[in-house]
Amino acid sequence: MADNSDNKVKPPSRQYPDPAVKLKQDPPTTGHSWDGIEEYDNPMPRWWVWIFIITIVWSVGYWIAYPAWPGIQQATSGVLGYSSRANVATEIAEFEARNEQFFVQLVDTDLGEIRDNDELQRFAVNAGASVFRAQCSQCHGTGGAGVQAAGFPNLLNDEWLWGGTLEDIHETIRYGIRNEDFAEARWSEMPAFGRDGLLTEEEIDETVHFVLSLSGSDHDADLALAGAEHFEINCASCHGDGGEGDYFIGAPALNTQVWLYGGSYDAIYESIYYSRFGVMPGFANRLRDAEIRAVAAYVHQLGGGQ
Ligand code: HEC
Ligand code: HEC
Repeated sequence: MADNSDNKVKPPSRQYPDPAVKLKQDPPTTGHSWDGIEEYDNPMPRWWVWIFIITIVWSVGYWIAYPAWPGIQQATSGVLGYSSRANVATEIAEFEARNEQFFVQLVDTDLGEIRDNDELQRFAVNAGASVFRAQCSQCHGTGGAGVQAAGFPNLLNDEWLWGGTLEDIHETIRYGIRNEDFAEARWSEMPAFGRDGLLTEEEIDETVHFVLSLSGSDHDADLALAGAEHFEINCASCHGDGGEGDYFIGAPALNTQVWLYGGSYDAIYESIYYSRFGVMPGFANRLRDAEIRAVAAYVHQLGGGQ
């Protein structure tokens, strides 16, 4: 049977607005209207108003308890006396106090005996690594592998210019090499054989072939034979008869595959023609004794320490 409820004739009273509908009337508006959209003027929800009031009360308490309002000299200090700056300062002081005992110990211990104390050696290597990153890596590379094009030696191998014992390394770092800052700086100067006319270009060419032969590199045997004579007269006093080098004057070994400036014909020619004169600053006036010892210990254990 069809639902014919729609067909019922509604009594006239039902056409008047229902009182319940009146309650659901639109709330008052603020009177603002944008493009016909009106803004209701509803009260904020109760929970929201309470949180709002609590945050205001909280902030007043906070201003009183903690540093808050900026002043001319400093912010208001707050009744609790809290200061993040002071907290950091105490933390640093505590940290330094903990390290200080090791720094003192580092200076008090004979260089050669640092290694016998595991804890001290560990501290030295860690502290030395951070000194190295800050002070040495720009020249020697972050890992200590050096930069050949610039004559910054590799510190990872066991080829040394000035010696690879802990004492030698320590001395090198303390006073540096060929700098004007320390009378104690390591010093030597290879003559510029070409520029200063001590050897002709032909003689240098021959000498280069002899130097190449020392490390077993490709060379012309006849030219090298002639070069051997120049080498004995001009070079052996510093580099040794067989090119083994000399720590005492920082003369590199020429009979290995490790090169400070390069082992190509051109690089060797340039080394002989102009000489090189690599300079390293000394650190005795920039680092504490303990830091110099630490970084020496670090370099010494990099791989090539003697
Ligand atoms: C401005 C660049 C520079 C800085 C910085 C520098 N060095 Fe050097 N270092 C050199 C040069 C150049 C040489 C090689 C000099 C030469 O020809 O004898 C050298 C040589 C050395 C040697 C000797 C290597 C050997 O074979 O005997 C050691 C060890 C060394 N440096 C360690 C350090 C340490 C550790 C630091 C940081 C505390 C440091 N260097 C900072 C440029 C630098
Ligand atoms: C007074 C000592 C001295 C004499 C003499 C000398 N040298 Fe040197 N030589 C050095 C020193 C020190 C270096 C290190 C480079 C520097 O000055 O930074 C060097 C560097 C070199 C290098 C660069 C090595 C490398 O690893 O890149 C070559 C090659 C070289 N010498 C060849 C010669 C030859 C060949 C002669 C002779 C004609 C000669 N030297 C004479 C002291 C000397």
